[in-house]
Amino acid sequence: MAWTRRNFLLTAGLGTAAGTLVPSQAAGNANTSPHQQEFKDWRAVRRHFNLDPRYIHMAGLLLASHPAPVQTAIDRHRQGLDENPTHYLYDHRQDLVAEVRDNAADYLGVQSEDIALTDSTTMGTALVINGLSIQPDQEMLTTTFDYYSTHTSLKYKAARTGAMVKEIPLYRDIQTVTEDEMVETLIKGVGSKTRLVTATWVHSSTGLKVPIAKIADQLQELNQNRSDEDRILFFVDGVHGLGVEDDALPTLGCDFFVAGTHKWMFAPRGSGFIWGKPATQDAVTPTIPTFTGGAGWGGWMTPGGFKSFEHQWAMAQAFAFHQQMGKKRVTQRLHSLSRQLKKGLSNMRHVKLYTPMEDDLSAAIVCFDVKGLTPKAVVAKLKANNIIASTTPYEVSYARLTPGVYNTPDEIDRVLKQIRELA
Ligand SMILES: Cc1ncc(COP(=O)(O)O)c(C=O)c1O
Repeated sequence: MAWTRRNFLLTAGLGTAAGTLVPSQAAGNANTSPHQQEFKDWRAVRRHFNLDPRYIHMAGLLLASHPAPVQTAIDRHRQGLDENPTHYLYDHRQDLVAEVRDNAADYLGVQSEDIALTDSTTMGTALVINGLSIQPDQEMLTTTFDYYSTHTSLKYKAARTGAMVKEIPLYRDIQTVTEDEMVETLIKGVGSKTRLVTATWVHSSTGLKVPIAKIADQLQELNQNRSDEDRILFFVDGVHGLGVEDDALPTLGCDFFVAGTHKWMFAPRGSGFIWGKPATQDAVTPTIPTFTGGAGWGGWMTPGGFKSFEHQWAMAQAFAFHQQMGKKRVTQRLHSLSRQLKKGLSNMRHVKLYTPMEDDLSAAIVCFDVKGLTPKAVVAKLKANNIIASTTPYEVSYARLTPGVYNTPDEIDRVLKQIRELA
């Protein structure tokens, strides 16, 4: 759909219950520039998205719709590249890549030289695991609910190096899971030969959030008496926590963090990054030669060759967009919408909710079943009522709804009403 005045107005008219900032959140806005005003309430944020206003969009965890500043940047770079590919590339590439890494670093609370730009979570995962220094007698510990891309990268690494993969369940039952159970289970799984531990910050299978910092603390204890070569390294697929939770990356305590930015971050399709902790990043070396280089480990880890440049460079505006909405404010909004959804679902006798209610154990993915219906049938029935949901693509599948910053409490109520009618 083109970015037209008509759908701008339609979108603007949506969501009469869109949240207006409470005074404490609006603090500091007294002298806001017109630019900042564009983010002053959630209706204003929604106007940046060209989402089809006929639908309630609740599957944004799959692929982002670009907000207007990102789309504008893509268009500008595309025009420049089409008009004069050579000059645009030569004149701007280094600066634009640096801008992306700087904006990402600001958002994440890290140094830009520790950030490598990738095309996706999957590419970051593969590059870290493939580039990891590991001995044939060492082991890589993963959990049952880690993502396919992690499991497959581990399998390939094991085949190439002889190192073993050990897979354990992270918890017994999603209905009773606790942070302590996850930490204890994972730490118990670590042995004297464990070189790598993998975790997924927020599981796309259930919406469960894993206590990354608590696990990292325990691993740090275990690392006290280990040499650099034997050190346990902690890898995190953070794609469904990034852009939802407001933790600064270093506070998570992991060694390597990868994420696609084309989901919750609203960056262009085919974009992502790797962050490597300065103290341990040298345990991973590059696989794909870089074309852009740039400062530090992250420069060397950024894969060449030529890219969908207009998409990579417009990542900068996505990080800036999130900063303008406000990290904390986004977290509060997404948790609030998710809580509203989960509370509503948990009060329905024909619905079984799988995602924990607690903020500590969940982010903005909500998984559930409706009695007598397959997850696919639930999604089809919601679709017939202009609500876009998804199913979890795992052996045991659930129906899934994921509130975004463009959704409103009123939309959540309308979704709940439709699910109530599925009884
Ligand atoms: C936990 C998790 N990691 C990675 C991915 C894939 O992300 P990307 O497309 O960025 O590789 C997904 C799903 O899309 C996912 O659910």
